[in-house]
Amino acid sequence: MTRRIVVSGGGSGIGQACAQWFAARGDEVFIVGRREQKLKDAAGTMGANANFIVADLSNVSGAQIVRDRIGSAKVDVIICAAGGTAAKTPTDLNEIDYEWRADIDQNLMTSVLLVEALRENISRPGGRIIGIGSIGAQLGSGYGGSYGAAKAAMHGWIYWLAQNLAEGDVTANLVNPGFIPDTEFFGERMNEDFRKVRVERSLLKRAGSLEDVADTVGFLASKEAGYITGQIIGVSGGTVFGR
Ligand SMILES: NC(=O)c1ccc[n+]([C@@H]2O[C@H](COP(=O)([O-])OP(=O)(O)OC[C@H]3O[C@@H](n4cnc5c(N)ncnc54)[C@H](OP(=O)(O)O)[C@@H]3O)[C@@H](O)[C@H]2O)c1
Repeated sequence: MTRRIVVSGGGSGIGQACAQWFAARGDEVFIVGRREQKLKDAAGTMGANANFIVADLSNVSGAQIVRDRIGSAKVDVIICAAGGTAAKTPTDLNEIDYEWRADIDQNLMTSVLLVEALRENISRPGGRIIGIGSIGAQLGSGYGGSYGAAKAAMHGWIYWLAQNLAEGDVTANLVNPGFIPDTEFFGERMNEDFRKVRVERSLLKRAGSLEDVADTVGFLASKEAGYITGQIIGVSGGTVFGR
């Protein structure tokens, strides 16, 4: 049966890989992001069942754009992969204020607003909400602290969502990737030393691939994963243990 999948951040990196995973299996996908050309190009690689929506999900008007576009259609899987960090090395209160709010908006609020915009559309029973957190939540990630804290807030959000949606037999889980270099996430921070340190931190001594994350997301969206809810699933090669 063809499912309908909405993926924020689907124009690049992990979100794109997740959308591709479902599109390759014949599902209808809607990828959401702010950059139209990026989305167009990504959707172009996913076949006829791929659609894109240009929206900034950190604010209500962006979430409303997605809601209007989806209309009354049922949504089987929502993947909240939009995220990133604005943090550098803040030196004064104004910079700290900007970076913390930006990271909370980009990671937590994009996820909260997308799910709430589509709350009535979620397939019941059987719907799946999958957030993309980060091991940064558990490591107390650098970049001024705001990124790890924003991702840690997603833990509380997913626990609440799991409880809140359980009556409709909808599951909600968070996937916490480790170091996934084939993304736009690291930008100019990426270099050989940066990479080496992160690979060394993992027990398996390799970087994670986009497929490592997309396969996990695909499984959590499957019928077979129907008894898994309210969980934080690390995909980090053992960089951190447990949740
Ligand atoms: N790469 C890693 O090692 C790693 C590790 C742990 C967790 N993560 C998490 O994985 C998720 C995916 O990131 P990625 O690594 O694949 O990096 P990426 O390639 O930079 O993808 C992030 C995506 O989020 C979208 N986005 C950001 N803000 C948005 C907003 N306000 N509204 C709508 N879309 C927005 C971006 O598209 P637009 O700019 O076009 O909006 C972009 O496509 C993020 O949540 C990130 O924190 C990544």
